[in-house]
Amino acid sequence: MLITLDYTNMMAEAVGAANGLREEELAGLTARTREIHEQIRLRRAAGELPFFDLPHDPAIVAEMTRLAKDVQEQFDNLVVLGIGGSALGTTAIFNALRYGHNLMDASQRLGLPRLFVLDNVDPDGFAAHLALCDPARTGFLVISKSGTTVETSSQFLVARQWVAASVGERYREHFILITDPKSGILRELADREGYRSCAIPAGVGGRFSVFTPVGLLPLACVGVDIAGLLKGAADCARFVCHDDLMTNPAYLNAVLQYLAYRRGLRITVLMPYSDRLRYLADWFRQLWAESLGKQFATDGSVVHVGPTPVNALGTTDQHSQVQLYMEGPFDKVVTFLVVDEFDQELPLPEYPAAPQMAYLAGHSLAELISIEQQATATALTRNQRANCALHLPRVTAESVGALVYMLEVQTLFAGGLFEVDPLDQPGVEEGKLFTYALMGRKGYEAQARQLAEQKGVLKPRVLACG
Ligand code: PA5
Repeated sequence: MLITLDYTNMMAEAVGAANGLREEELAGLTARTREIHEQIRLRRAAGELPFFDLPHDPAIVAEMTRLAKDVQEQFDNLVVLGIGGSALGTTAIFNALRYGHNLMDASQRLGLPRLFVLDNVDPDGFAAHLALCDPARTGFLVISKSGTTVETSSQFLVARQWVAASVGERYREHFILITDPKSGILRELADREGYRSCAIPAGVGGRFSVFTPVGLLPLACVGVDIAGLLKGAADCARFVCHDDLMTNPAYLNAVLQYLAYRRGLRITVLMPYSDRLRYLADWFRQLWAESLGKQFATDGSVVHVGPTPVNALGTTDQHSQVQLYMEGPFDKVVTFLVVDEFDQELPLPEYPAAPQMAYLAGHSLAELISIEQQATATALTRNQRANCALHLPRVTAESVGALVYMLEVQTLFAGGLFEVDPLDQPGVEEGKLFTYALMGRKGYEAQARQLAEQKGVLKPRVLACG
């Protein structure tokens, strides 16, 4: 079994009628589930949802492995330049499957390059990372589906100059552009300037693209078993692509979250009890928020809908967030990500000089983290806080691939329940346009005028300390 959903503590019998769900409520959505499934099936058949079929592409592993080999020979450092869906999946899976990779020396890394995923334009952060690398031995994956993203374009400009200053005209060999197969400036540059490039299949949006070269190439370069990742996803597909609600964990989890949302539990907390899975919660946060947070329903009506995803980490956030989850407003569902078997046990030894710690001896860190998760779930349940758990038997390429795929399908299906388009993100456009205007880009004069007007009207209210 790759992933198990335990939703015992989502039900009224566990957390009470006010926050818990009844069997009838789940049953009440079986017909709607079939309808949404049928819509998905039709869209898949029309080629509108290609992300579903990515794990079944037989050629991609060989292609990515071949290219990764060249990268591994050429570079000691690999830097991903991208943002949002072009970065978060790679970070999540890299940490899950190559935890601590960059901290190892070259021989411990088996000569594989270090991987830095730079998804911001903070000049201090960007420069600090470049300072760790020798430009002559550093490669860049410039990842942007649209090719227009201001952050990625700006990073590219800085990195190109930085490499060219060291290696001259051969700088092009240091860049691989991963972008739309046909359109956009990155595709144009690849064709015109002779950069190596990979195509993001048409119709696969950023946050659903980790099983394309967007994620597979950087992950292959650092030794992630990408075949295992895709196999896990493909195996998972057998369990999450059918219309029987009560046996489909992706659909059922979407329904649980949706019903809880309708009850007023509008915050979705994802809380891995695993350092390695920490950034999967980051990846999911974007997937859930950008896909479901919408002003308009698919019928055009104004809905302002969407659950707010929040990340937490067990056990760390038991000493931070859990107080709020336990006693604060009844507005959250906590989903634990649980690893059933860790790679390491780390037994807790005896220490006779510390008798107060004697109760720990004979146990292990693996046991402790698992017990703490159970203890937190029990306490939440006793406080009538809805919670559920997704279990991975172990953290492997297969289980992580399955989890990612399951959460993608869950999100797409949730779009049907919330009656929004989970594949678009119109709400991020306006801010982009103002950025262009402020950067003096031609064609954005109207936005520049709006900015000036707003500045003229609003009285500044600013306080300083010191
Ligand atoms: O999920 C999405 O579509 C977004 O988060 C994009 O990935 C993000 O905005 C970056 O876009 P692009 O890949 O076009 O640079």
